[in-house]
Amino acid sequence: MTLQPAPIRAVPVPLLASPGRRRALRSLAAGMVDWVPTDRPRCDLDLLITGAMAPLTGFLGRADYESVCERMRLADGALWPMPITLDVPAEIARRLGPGEGLALREPSGALLGVLWIDDVWAPDLDAEAEAVFRTTSDAHPGVAHLRERTHPFYAGGRLEAVRRPFFPSFGRISPGPLEVRTEFARRGWNRIVAFHTRNPMHRAHFELTRQAAESVGAALLLHPVVGMTKPGDVDPVTRIRCYQALMHRYPTGRALMAAIPMAMRMSGPRDSLWNAILRATFGCTHYIVGRDHASPGPDHDGRPFYDPYEAQDILFRHEAETGIATVAFPALTYAPALDRYVPADELPAGAETRTVSGTELRSLLASGSDIPEWITFPEVAAVLRSAQRQAAASNG
Ligand code: ADX
Repeated sequence: MTLQPAPIRAVPVPLLASPGRRRALRSLAAGMVDWVPTDRPRCDLDLLITGAMAPLTGFLGRADYESVCERMRLADGALWPMPITLDVPAEIARRLGPGEGLALREPSGALLGVLWIDDVWAPDLDAEAEAVFRTTSDAHPGVAHLRERTHPFYAGGRLEAVRRPFFPSFGRISPGPLEVRTEFARRGWNRIVAFHTRNPMHRAHFELTRQAAESVGAALLLHPVVGMTKPGDVDPVTRIRCYQALMHRYPTGRALMAAIPMAMRMSGPRDSLWNAILRATFGCTHYIVGRDHASPGPDHDGRPFYDPYEAQDILFRHEAETGIATVAFPALTYAPALDRYVPADELPAGAETRTVSGTELRSLLASGSDIPEWITFPEVAAVLRSAQRQAAASNG
């Protein structure tokens, strides 16, 4: 497939101020209202600072926010599916006016940057939930986050950053898009397929990456999320160990692993489009999307929130604008007779297939049983088992 010329949005624009300006911001910030962003905007802040969220230049103001919620575009028409907002409590909102600076800080007090305020407003969070998640059910983790963990005011404006937030476990392995692009160039890669995941790489995940790289003749960027994922997921430190343990399975020199400190929303198609746009900004030419991408699981009545292939359709529809080609997969399932993962719908009727749920896998690990290789590679199972032993030891 021929790619459209890369649109302007695929160019990272880091928001880190020059060293001189950083010194000036540090002294200006001494007289400003201080705020320590909560976990989600702290992840967003990191992606803004490195330029991964280009063309955004800060947290969304009201016009952009409303436009993004309503039509997945910034007010100027640029495609952007996710509201990237800074929530603050009333006592902070009350002290902020247009043109003023809000000093964004780490819990330690270290200055991360200054947000030059354009707008402060009280959003309608139910309307946001309906627009972004298409539901107000609190079984949806994104809705629950809006209800339980979001302050009632949003502050939007331009960001001037002083430093990236500190993620102790991932500092060295979460390069921004400029560094990743530099590494691609150093390796001479110009076709790169990105894989986004919030799970340890089980065999199905590995098969997707192997088959995708092979089918489009691309190198692989394994780009797991280490910011915020679905509540209950395997912790990111353990997952990074799993990815590192498995890298030797890829052809030498054809795969790179980097973590992305992103806060997923679990909005299915909107997450999918946002994820793909970011990977274009990281310099990738192709993006893998399978079944139920960024899906939050079922509602209270057992029904899924999104159609399993909506997250693919939205990418195909916007390919010309995102500049990244979609590598779509149907549900892959293990066929014991073939000893391979194959598209479920390509198997003859009645053929035996095997699947394993996260819960089944957790109970296999807990009972110390052998994990068959069709579920997960032994080196990944070993990492998961050791993490489980450590957790049990520290709980008991
Ligand atoms: S996700 O929330 O990031 O989508 P996960 O890490 O499980 O969850 O999935 C990463 C990618 O692999 C997604 O694009 C997902 O659709 C795809 N995927 C995972 N398992 C399968 C499978 N068995 N068949 C097809 N696609 C899959």
